Order: sequence, then structure tokens, then C-alpha cells
Amino acid sequence: MKTDLPQSFRRLEYRPPNFTFGKVALDIALDPARTIVKSSLEVLPGPEFKPGEPLVLQGQELEFVSLRINGAAHRHFELNPESITIHSLPNEGREAFMVEIISICVPEKNTSLMGLYVSNGNFFTQCEAEGFRKITYFLDRPDVMARYTVTLRARETECPVLLSNGNLIHKEKLPNGWHSAVWEDPFPKPSYLFALVAGKLECIEETITTGSGAKKLLQIWVEPHDLNKTRHAMDSLIASIHWDEKRYGLELDLERFMIVAVGDFNMGAMENKGLNIFNTKYVLAQPETATDADFANIESVVGHEYFHNWTGNRVTCQDWFQLSLKEGLTVFRDQEFSADQMGSESGRAVKRIEDVRTLRQLQFPEDAGPMAHPIRPDEYQEINNFYTVTVYEKGAEVVRMYQTLLGVDGFRKGMDLYFKRHDGQAVTCEDFLAAMADANGRDLTQFKNWYSQAGTPRVKVEEHYNEASKQYVLTLTQSSAKVNQQPFHIPLKMRLLTSGDDQKEQLLELTQEKQSWTFENISEKPVLSINRGFSAPIILDFVQDEADLLTLFSSDDDAFNRWEAGQKLAMQFILDNRLPGAQLIAAYRTLLLDPDLDPAFKELAMTLPAEAYLYEQCASVDPQNIYSARRAFRHAIATELRMEWAALYQQMQTPGDFSPDGVSAGKRSLKNLALSMLLDADVAIWSAMAVNQYQNANNMTDRYAALSGLVVNGSKQAGICLRDFYSRFTDDALVIDKWFALQASRPPIAGVEPTLVDVMRLREHEAFKLNNPNRVRSVIHAFCMGNPASFHQADGSGYAFWADAVLTLDPINPQVAARLARGLDRWRLFAEPYQSKMHAALEKVAASKTLSADVREVISKALA
Ligand code: PHE
Ligand code: ZN
Repeated sequence: MKTDLPQSFRRLEYRPPNFTFGKVALDIALDPARTIVKSSLEVLPGPEFKPGEPLVLQGQELEFVSLRINGAAHRHFELNPESITIHSLPNEGREAFMVEIISICVPEKNTSLMGLYVSNGNFFTQCEAEGFRKITYFLDRPDVMARYTVTLRARETECPVLLSNGNLIHKEKLPNGWHSAVWEDPFPKPSYLFALVAGKLECIEETITTGSGAKKLLQIWVEPHDLNKTRHAMDSLIASIHWDEKRYGLELDLERFMIVAVGDFNMGAMENKGLNIFNTKYVLAQPETATDADFANIESVVGHEYFHNWTGNRVTCQDWFQLSLKEGLTVFRDQEFSADQMGSESGRAVKRIEDVRTLRQLQFPEDAGPMAHPIRPDEYQEINNFYTVTVYEKGAEVVRMYQTLLGVDGFRKGMDLYFKRHDGQAVTCEDFLAAMADANGRDLTQFKNWYSQAGTPRVKVEEHYNEASKQYVLTLTQSSAKVNQQPFHIPLKMRLLTSGDDQKEQLLELTQEKQSWTFENISEKPVLSINRGFSAPIILDFVQDEADLLTLFSSDDDAFNRWEAGQKLAMQFILDNRLPGAQLIAAYRTLLLDPDLDPAFKELAMTLPAEAYLYEQCASVDPQNIYSARRAFRHAIATELRMEWAALYQQMQTPGDFSPDGVSAGKRSLKNLALSMLLDADVAIWSAMAVNQYQNANNMTDRYAALSGLVVNGSKQAGICLRDFYSRFTDDALVIDKWFALQASRPPIAGVEPTLVDVMRLREHEAFKLNNPNRVRSVIHAFCMGNPASFHQADGSGYAFWADAVLTLDPINPQVAARLARGLDRWRLFAEPYQSKMHAALEKVAASKTLSADVREVISKALA
């Protein structure tokens, strides 16, 4: 029976499985039109076993062929669209029995990219969260962990390479041009970590020796023409392996570790045991085709997936509500890895600023919108919608707070205890918290509120300095975004800045709703530097006057807070629609001229808060007003400091061979900011220099920055350079994605046709493909979610385009469509006429009778 009400899954309804699996043997005969899967399952009574209960296996879009139990044909079963229910089990299921099922799936028709699919003629799988059930009938839940042996069969000419998890134990030629390979994974794993890859691929490989003296084979598999773009990923993998040993004492547990790149992928990458599958975007790089940001992303995603081998795979999640257990922790680990790779304290700070900027631009709006959820949600309709910035990025902030509260060594003790207790298990967020608490003898009961309460907490700061008694009293009051919430345990790093530097950094633990601290012997009214390093993911309500902010901006010894003061200043000016005054310009000038400051830091300090973050500061958003105010402010910085920008442009050249390291990348980023400022100041004058950089660049960072500056500033040279770029890189899909994305991200320019007109044209371009997620994201998502000023047009044209795109994409790929559907989440925050027009677009999508569960959940929550 089908009802119209969407089904919700609830965390508190978790029950352990009534059956589990011991050994699982899969035999898969790969054929794009008709793949035959034979599965042999050793079924055992599970923790909730009750004699006589049927065995219910999930299965989706499968053609059922046959069922045998203990070798004999079995007829007592029912087939449903999403499961098979098997009755009359031997001895009512009390002891182990063998289930053999044969079923068929159609990889070439699979555009959802979940389960088994074909990409550019090769076979790939994606099983997290619930894709395994599209390959075969199974207990497709993370708390059922089994030992897999996988036999892959295929035509040898079409699929010379056959890969799966673990170790290759056998290879064989078969009749009629077929061949087979048998893979055995020594570690029990949940189905979501299963993977296979087959096709015409080649690899680079390297053998390394890890801490215990064991030799390990590392491979990166790609299409043959991409082999020359794998070096950076391999270096990143080796660095990740060493880092995890050094920092956490965690060694690679397999003899062989493989990464495979695929051009059609819904997400960034996937941590399948021993066989990570990556979006090509996070593997392939060489200086001519990848930017510094691409190099850095590859390093962090390679690290992330590798770190999952312990945090996610060896210790996995009991159920999908616990997703942040592995994702928050693993993001924290990859952030720390990347920070360490920067090689200096100022490099670490730069990384921290970038991470916080992402959090505030993407996660704060989510936490204030209709899809807000705690890092451990209590309810979902479609789990795919919960791979969110909250679960990932806020989850990482929560993990970081343990480290802030317990210290780096205390955190390490907690990690050690976590693995000692739970290796090989599927566990919960409480288990992680308990390990942290027990290893350090701390009571972290109140800290649990971070797992259960949504919304960004606000902390109000009040200060009182008594000249006569030399006392300084700091009062902090926390309030949460939602009613009926309990106070959070908030670690706040702070320091009082005075002319003598006798006040040290301290850690305040705000646990009550309101708390005061008194500081004695403070010789003069101090300037408060609080939430240093962004020690807690909160919003500070603190009206600090401009003079204090200028002091912090020029001299706070905490680089994060120094940056933060600049952001606050700029934000106040922009929101008040004011241009920077002489003092602020002078502060910017001093910063730019400071010979001791890291160029990467300067670039971040001179980059204005994103529009998405500015929106969150308003009660009612007029996107065009915010856009013009921000632009005018930026134009003033560009113009008033043009001498400095011109000088920096010369000083920051990085002659010689390209290197993607943090220091060189920082110089390029400041140089290219300077170029963009000069173009903003006077596009006619500086276009020639940009064209010169475009033509002579020896790396993509510089070439793309020059092109982008020309396009964004409406230079007359933009068209010719765009055409040149396309013809230079026609065969490189990832570069062509950049070409699309740049045009779709162009802000409105007076006298130039609206960006939407370009976007409509790009959508009809011969190289545009609706079923390739990277291409779709580079046009549609880039326009609807990454280009606010062009998207939010008063005539509603952007929203109409959005509705049409969601409806078009949904039947092809619900995950990609649902991500786009999030684009109007914040509609209630907007002023008229935007709000009504967004509402109408949402209603239009909601009216469709055939929405996927993915899009249905997003739209119905937006309208609720
Ligand atoms: N688990 C992957 C990661 O974060 C993300 C992912 C989720 C990929 C679902 C594919 C599908 O590393
Ligand atoms: Zn992850």
C-alpha cells in the first residue's frame, strides 16, 4: 500500500538487527545491460533474534531470478518493490543457514549514480548510504558487518581491470573472452563500504613501508590519458598515511590501498575499504590544468578518505543518525592534516580562517533555515539529504571543542580509548563522548547538548572596567536560536589586550545561561579578544566600537581574531551602506605593506564577507542592496589603494617552476587579488595586463584568475579569452567545468546582458550534459547557489529557472536535484518582491506528483 505521506525514520526507533551475516560471497558477471549478481549469505541469528521471524532483505530496482536456502530452492517468500521477505527459515532461523539469491541489475540505465553504474564505459559502484540494495538483496544497514569474497567476471577486452575491496587472491581466463578476478577483504565491513570497479583503467603505483615495517602497495587508477595528473594525489596519500601514524598512532591495516577516479560522481569521494572511489575533481591535477585551490582540495579529500579507514571503517556507525560520528571526526582530522601541511603557525591560521569562512557561509544559513538539524539528527525522510554542512563542518567544530577542552594530549588519550573499546564495532556518538570523558576523567554530560540541539548559539558579551579598583568584569550570556533548549558547554579562548602584554590567553568555559568573570589588576581599560581561533561555533553579540576593532585588526596576536576584526568592520560598513573612511583605508594600507605578514593572510584579510553571510545579519534581505553596498565598498578599497595593489602585483610574482605549496599559493592568491582590485578600479587601463597574464601563465591559478578578472569586470577582452580558453582545453572535462562555472558565476554588469541569458545558452551548449553532476553543478548550481546577485532578480527569472532545473534533474539524479532544491531554503528571510516569487517557485516544484523522496523532503520542509 502506498500513501502520500512521506515516511520518516526516527533515531529513537533504532532496533538491533534480528539477523546478521558471517561470510558473504558475491559473484558478479558484469554487463552494462544485464549484470547478473549471485550472492551467498551466511545468515546468523542477530542480537534481536526471535525464532520464527522472517528474514527481510532490502532490494531496489532489481530483477529477481531465484532463491535457495541451504542449497535447495525456496518458495516461501514475498517480493516487494523495496524488499524481499523470506519465511519458513530452517529451524526457525535458530542456527546459521545459507541464502543464495540471483538477481539482475542494469548499470547502463542507472543515472542516479547509486549502486552499480557505468561512467564513460567503465563500471563503478557507490553504496553509501543505501546503494548496496540496488546491487543485490541485503541487510543494507551499517550495523551488519560481514566478511566479503567477491568474484568479478567480465569480457577481458572491455574490462581488463577488475577491482574490489581487500586483496586480490585469484585471476583466471574464462571461455568466450571473459576473465575473472577474486578479491577477499580480511576485515568485516558494512555493505556501504563495498566497492567494485571494472574497465579500461591504468594506475601509478608506489610501495611504502609503514611504522610496523610492513610493505604496502599504493595505487591510483584513472583513465589512461589522465595518468600524468596523478602525482599530487599519490603524494597526498603518502603524506596522509605518515600523518595518521605520527599524530594518532594509526597504521594502514591493508597490504594494498587503491584510489580510483571517476568522472560521474554525486559527491567528492568515498572511503570504500581499501578501494576509495573519487570524483576526478579530487584526484587529477597538474599545474597547467588545476588551480591552487584544486591542489589543496585534493590533498584534503585524499586525507579525508584515507583517515576514514580508522574513523568510519574500523569503527563505523550503528545507524545513519550517527553519521557525524565518522564525518565530523574525519573532517576535523583532515582539517588538522591540511593545517599541519601548511608548515607554519601562520599557515595553520590561514587554514583555520578558510574553514570558518566555509562554516559561516554555508552552515550558519542551514542552521537558521528549514532544514536545520542537530549534528546528530533525530528524524529524516531521505538519508541522502543529511550529508550536510551541519553533519560535516559543524560536526568537525564539535570534535574540535573536545580538543580545546581536553588539550591535544587529552584528545589523543580519548582517541586511543575509543579505538581500544570499539575497534571492529558499529557505535554511536555517545560512545565517542564516553571515550573522551573517561580517558580524561571529565564529566562531559552537558557537552551532549551539541549533539541534540540545532541552531547556532548566540553569546552576548558585556564588559565593565572599573578604573578605581582596576577590575575588569566580563559577563557572557548564551541564548539559543530555538526555544526550550538547554545551555551549551561553550569553550571560549580569550585574552585581554593591554599596552603591557602581561595578560595571557585563557580558556573560559561558559556552561550556564549567564556567567561573569572578574579579572584583577588590569592597569587600563583592555581590548577584549574573545572566541580566539573560533574556539566555539557560535555567533558573538558584541558591539565593539570601531576603535577597538581597528586595534584588534592591526595588532591582535591571534591571527584568527585579527582577521575577524577586519571582517566585522567591513560588515558594519557594508550593512550601513557606508564607504571605508580614512582610518580604515589606512589600516588596510598598513596591513598590505607589512613585510612580516603572510601573503595568504593578507589576501584573506582583504576579502570581504560573502553575500550569503551578510544575508544572515539582516532581518529582511534585499539582495540587490547588499550587492551594491558590498561592491561599492570593494570599489573604494580597489581605488584608494591602487598604488599598493599595483606594487603588490609586481612583488608577488612567483617566477620559476610552479609549486602548489602553501607559501607559493599564498603569494599567487595575493597577486591575483591585486589584479582583480586593479581591474575593479579601472578595467580599461588594466585589461591589457590581465590579458598578458592570461596568455603567458604557466599554471591554471594564474590563467584562470586573469580570465575571471576580465569576465567579472566586463572587460572587452573577456570574450576572446573565453573562446581561447575553451579551445585550449576542450578535451579536459575538469577545465571545461571551470569554463562553464566562470560564466555562470558572473555577477550582473551594467550594460551587459543578464547572466541568466548566458546560463540559458550554456545549458544548450554541446558540451553541457544533464547527467554529469560536475557539469550540472558548474552551470546550474553555480548560478543558483553561487551567484546571489545574478540569481536574485526582482522579476523572479532566476527562481523560475531554478524550479525548471529541479524538475528536470529530479528524474535523472535525485541527489543532484535535491542539492539544488536547497537553493531557496532561506526564502522567508528575503524582502518583497523576492520572497513571493521564491515562494511561487517552491510551490511550482511542490505541485509535481512525481518528486523523488529526496526533493520532496527538501521542498516540503521549505514550505512548512
Ligand atoms: N562518505 C563520503 C565522505 O565523506 C561522502 C559520500 C557520501 C560519498 C555518500 C558518496 C555518497 O567521505
Ligand atoms: Zn567523509
